[in-house]
Amino acid sequence: MQAQAVCRKATIEDAGTLADLIAGYAQKGIMLPRSKEVLQRQIDTFIVAEVDGEVVGCGSLCKLGTDLVEIRSLGISEGYKGLGIGSKLVDFLIEEARNQHITKVMALTYEVTFFQKNGFKIVDKEIFPEKVWKDCVHCAKQHACDEIAVLKMLN
Ligand SMILES: CC(C)(COP(=O)(O)OP(=O)(O)OC[C@H]1O[C@@H](n2cnc3c(N)ncnc32)[C@H](O)[C@@H]1OP(=O)(O)O)[C@@H](O)C(=O)NCCC(=O)NCCS
Repeated sequence: MQAQAVCRKATIEDAGTLADLIAGYAQKGIMLPRSKEVLQRQIDTFIVAEVDGEVVGCGSLCKLGTDLVEIRSLGISEGYKGLGIGSKLVDFLIEEARNQHITKVMALTYEVTFFQKNGFKIVDKEIFPEKVWKDCVHCAKQHACDEIAVLKMLN
């Protein structure tokens, strides 16, 4: 199954599918919701994973500073987890970061083991001044954030 998953940059036609995928995770409180309109505006920052032409996962890269990006909206559809597709998406996003000459890739997540297996280390959230938590105003948990910050240094 892993070999059949193909990662590619998202196109405007993917916005509706991405909105549905992300809405499912947002309802569970593990992702911030993104409307179709917002996704259309930010589509350049999104990638998708396809199996047999069907989108089964997504992820995005948000620039937080001159040398720092955040992996966001990373999710795999039920039935496709544990098949290496999430790791493939992370590899693709890291390649994108390298192409932009970025050396620090971070994420805020509950899926610490997954990120550790992909070479990330747990770090203190306070080390990221650039983030200024600009999206946190949209999050129900903004005053009680229990997500873990993870960081991968690229070289
Ligand atoms: C987290 C997520 C993206 C992982 O994607 P995936 O395709 O299932 O992960 P992979 O198959 O690439 O797993 C890679 C490794 O991480 C491990 N792993 C994945 N999810 C794990 C979990 N929840 N707990 C422990 N280990 C996990 C796998 O066992 C695998 O280990 P291995 O290399 O030793 O076999 C996916 O489970 C998901 O969509 N979760 C819900 C949304 C979410 O929380 N996203 C993170 C927001 S930052």
